[in-house]
Amino acid sequence: MKTIQTINELQHFLQNNKNKSIGFVPTMGYLHEGHLTLLKKARLENDVVVMSIFVNPAQFGPNEDLDRYPRDIEKDTELATAEGVDVLFAPTAEEMYPFESGITIHAGTLSTKLCGESRPGHFDGVLKVITKLFHIVQPTRVYFGQKDAQQLAIIETFVQAYNFPVEIIRVPTVREIDGLAKSSRNVFLSDAERAEATHLYKALSSAMEVWEQTNSVEEAISKARLLIESNTSGKIDYFEALSYPDLQPISNHTEQILFATAVFFEKARLIDNIIVNVKEV
Ligand code: PAJ
Repeated sequence: MKTIQTINELQHFLQNNKNKSIGFVPTMGYLHEGHLTLLKKARLENDVVVMSIFVNPAQFGPNEDLDRYPRDIEKDTELATAEGVDVLFAPTAEEMYPFESGITIHAGTLSTKLCGESRPGHFDGVLKVITKLFHIVQPTRVYFGQKDAQQLAIIETFVQAYNFPVEIIRVPTVREIDGLAKSSRNVFLSDAERAEATHLYKALSSAMEVWEQTNSVEEAISKARLLIESNTSGKIDYFEALSYPDLQPISNHTEQILFATAVFFEKARLIDNIIVNVKEV
């Protein structure tokens, strides 16, 4: 595996691999099994696999965890090599953002819900880096996890609306044995919080069951909130049900329901979700 830090060098490599399909997995590093599942799928479906590691300052708010976001480039290099990644692109912030253009991308209405409410500007920052990375790598297929369901919905919509010539591939959420969604931020949980955090997935599963039995989104949400409140020390940021991927209130026409939650623990804000196909229920 080649590690490349500059856009020039990456584009030189890609020039030499013209006419090959490029599978791209953008990440912020500190890889876990969720990331590795994306890499495995990319490896199976493409001639060349490029993974980026870039902790993107543009998507962190002023009081968020940019400085203490976990990093371990050596371990990540080992893991990526083992998954058969061809190129690890790990640029510096100066390489990605050498000057302030004054031109911004706004994620719009889809970013006013869920995580967007407590992280203003977050999805604008995601689209900023994604646009640059897509132009630099020019991938055939790009792999995203459903763990970040809102991010995935926004990127899919962006790509469709603005004709980016890429295929977006959805990858289901990878979980620990006890149901906790794998996340780079799980390292910030204390032992007690780590045990409590299993209740996020339990609450989402319960919401799904209550909804299936009663057809009442309100009942599903209130029971799920109670489960989190009575079993964790975390503070609920949101627990909501919206149609997916358009993030609208549930209606008779809704085909997929997204149950999504975010919970603040002492040093980490965790997110998780479940997507239910209405027709199959
Ligand atoms: P990061 O949090 O590192 O995640 C990189 C990719 O891994 C995302 O597509 C995310 O949805 C996926 N992922 C994370 N945990 C997962 C899990 N448990 N199961 C399945 N997939 C999982 O998301 C970002 O980075 C950034 O916002 C990025 C898209 C790279 C832009 O900076």
